[in-house]
Amino acid sequence: MQINKAEYVKSCVRAEHYPTDGLPEMIFAGRSNVGKSSFINSLTNRKQLARVSSRPGKTQTLNFYNINDMMYLVDVPGYGYAKVNRSLKESFGRMIEEYLVERDELILGVLLVDYRHKPTQEDIAMYSLYKYYEIPTLVIGTKKDKVNRSQHKKQEKLIKETLDFDENDVFVAYSSETHEGREEVLEIFEDLIKQ
Ligand code: GTP
Ligand code: MG
Repeated sequence: MQINKAEYVKSCVRAEHYPTDGLPEMIFAGRSNVGKSSFINSLTNRKQLARVSSRPGKTQTLNFYNINDMMYLVDVPGYGYAKVNRSLKESFGRMIEEYLVERDELILGVLLVDYRHKPTQEDIAMYSLYKYYEIPTLVIGTKKDKVNRSQHKKQEKLIKETLDFDENDVFVAYSSETHEGREEVLEIFEDLIKQ
């Protein structure tokens, strides 16, 4: 898939604000600093796309990006699933849960974890949330360029074991520096959209 259009559309906190054109959506979640903005920029080949609407730490909104008029990437900036974990009653928890529960357009949950490290409790909580709502998931191991080739198998195993990875899901290691993994991810997206 060639990305010709990648455009920020809107930020939403409630379902009545979501886009209404029915395009399929993929939601992106990951801990702060895991490389989420870099990943979205690398994937879409844009330098600053993922910064347009992010107000780190403060507002927690779902940000919708239109890709090729074919799908939306839905970015969750500020990442608050420590809160989700503690109490789903908190607003961030409600926002993301409302989205996961109600959003028929959602076809893929993407979870970014640091390829160098064992997933955290928050990573596990987010993956579990995807699984609880039966959302097909793509786990991205970020910063692949920082992991020695000899460690790749070991790290993938550690990540999968820690997350209690469902073998129906897909794992891809990615580097936003070298764009390694890009073609694989774009192919996964293309296949999903076609279905
Ligand atoms: P917040 O928006 O603050 O939550 O962070 P984020 O998850 O969007 O991470 P961001 O993309 O801002 O990247 C965090 C840091 O990691 C930056 O210094 C990036 O340059 C670096 N980084 C991200 N991806 C990669 C990668 O694939 N390789 C390397 N070497 N560094 C990366
Ligand atoms: Mg970011």
